[in-house]
Amino acid sequence: MKHLLSIADLTRESAVELLDEAERFEQALLGREVRKLPTLRGRTVMTVFFENSTRTRVSFEVAGKWMSADVINVSASSSSVSKGESLRDTAMTLRAAGADALIVRHPASGAAHQIASWTGRQDDGGPAVINAGDGTHEHPTQALLDALTLRQRLGDIEGKRIAIVGDILHSRVARSNALLLSMLGAEVVLVAPPTLLPVGVTSWPVSVAHSLDAELPGLDAVLMLRVQAERMNGGFFPSQREYSINYGLSEKRLALLPEHAVVLHPGPMLRGMEIASAVADSSRTAVLQQVTNGVHMRMAVLFRLLVGAEEVAG
Ligand code: CP
Repeated sequence: MKHLLSIADLTRESAVELLDEAERFEQALLGREVRKLPTLRGRTVMTVFFENSTRTRVSFEVAGKWMSADVINVSASSSSVSKGESLRDTAMTLRAAGADALIVRHPASGAAHQIASWTGRQDDGGPAVINAGDGTHEHPTQALLDALTLRQRLGDIEGKRIAIVGDILHSRVARSNALLLSMLGAEVVLVAPPTLLPVGVTSWPVSVAHSLDAELPGLDAVLMLRVQAERMNGGFFPSQREYSINYGLSEKRLALLPEHAVVLHPGPMLRGMEIASAVADSSRTAVLQQVTNGVHMRMAVLFRLLVGAEEVAG
């Protein structure tokens, strides 16, 4: 694997290896006073974010630092992008400055693929490129950390019925999760109003439903999505009130889930709209476990891309 641009870059076997490796990193750091492994000493990791982020950017930075990499954060607003520099010139500049890995978030679907095609592959001396979210397309490391959280909470993903709920249309998290969870043997159902489903959803390896109440009793996990108002061009369909009534995860709805079922949300959460505050803070919800797993998962991804598959974490 030279880059991680989409779930299509993974096989079931390599995805499971990444989940295992993330857990090895968790174990390797457990109980350490100083969380510092020498794994990436001398490597330079650059995060290049053209959209805001808390979890993804911070967890990649922590992951790199815990593995002793030099981590440099580039944000569009404080870089020469704000003076009109092109995406290609920016990417080639960062390559020339010595990036071993470029972690890219961009509002345009396909931006990370485009950067990887410009900067070349590792065996050409170019950096590994990791897609940290491209438009409405994909967010593969989010799906990996979600799969790790589900495996820890449910024991296994194979055969589990998992709903992805809400604004599927604008969600890169939904697409990456649908692809990865079905690759890992889950039965994935998308639950959304018809207006928040993408046209091409019929080609996804999922089923589609519109009634959350009807689905909840048969689920092992529910992955709530953020409603991405910023991608709706000022319109909101359905109305926020209508959405909340039909698709918001209220305490009453939580009671419809089986006892063992777990609730995930990639964050940031819109409390009171897509998820009730009491549900967000309940022990049934794994939101903060997802964040912690995000660090270990991103350690595993950086390790695989920069060091290779033949060595193990430790
Ligand atoms: N889940 C996620 O991508 O969160 P951020 O936008 O805070 O990185």
